[in-house]
Amino acid sequence: MLVREHGGELTDAELIGIAGLLLLAGHETTSNMLSLGTLALLRHPDQLAAVRDDPEAVGPAVEELLRWLSVVHNAIPRITTSEVEVAGVTIPAGALVLASLVSGNRDPAFVDRPDVLDISRGAVGHQAFGHGVHHCLGAPLARMEMRIALPALLQRFPTLTHVEPFDEIDFRSFHFIYGLKSLPVAW
Ligand code: HEM
Repeated sequence: MLVREHGGELTDAELIGIAGLLLLAGHETTSNMLSLGTLALLRHPDQLAAVRDDPEAVGPAVEELLRWLSVVHNAIPRITTSEVEVAGVTIPAGALVLASLVSGNRDPAFVDRPDVLDISRGAVGHQAFGHGVHHCLGAPLARMEMRIALPALLQRFPTLTHVEPFDEIDFRSFHFIYGLKSLPVAW
């Protein structure tokens, strides 16, 4: 569509940049949220049952999984336009600032028992999609994918289980977007 409707205005480098961004931002994020979210629910059977059986529980569960998993650890880097004070620290104008979304989402000053996955928390909010003008463009699509896929998977495979013991499951040790290398399952 970009080539058809804007081909004359965009350079090859811009087209490749947009395609790369959408692949990373649009696919890596949601696919890893779905696999990590499935694993998280398998380890919390009561919450898994609620996501499978109660349509009202699905929306809040997706928000809590986004907060708890925080698959994108850092926001897009910002540069301060003026001097600013954050939590007693003065940051000069023109400084590069990298916000840790995962640490914000697990800040005990923001949420009680931050390391506990609890889909009944209510709407506590989170920073999993960032904040401000660069807030994730695909957030509504990502939410829709998760709200549809998680209950559908759990209803289709009610006996779903992970086959490896939890401490042998292969997580990515480092990647811009957190996730699993693989998650062998049985049903
Ligand atoms: C669970 C899934 C997703 C998560 C956790 C996520 C997270 C994020 C985060 C943290 C940012 C940076 C925000 C900031 O710095 O304030 C971002 C930006 C962005 N995301 Fe997502 N994202 C997800 C899914 C998607 C999807 C499905 C798409 C597109 C189909 C998408 C497209 C983008 C784009 C284009 C930006 C850059 C926005 C800008 O710079 O103005 N994301 N996302």
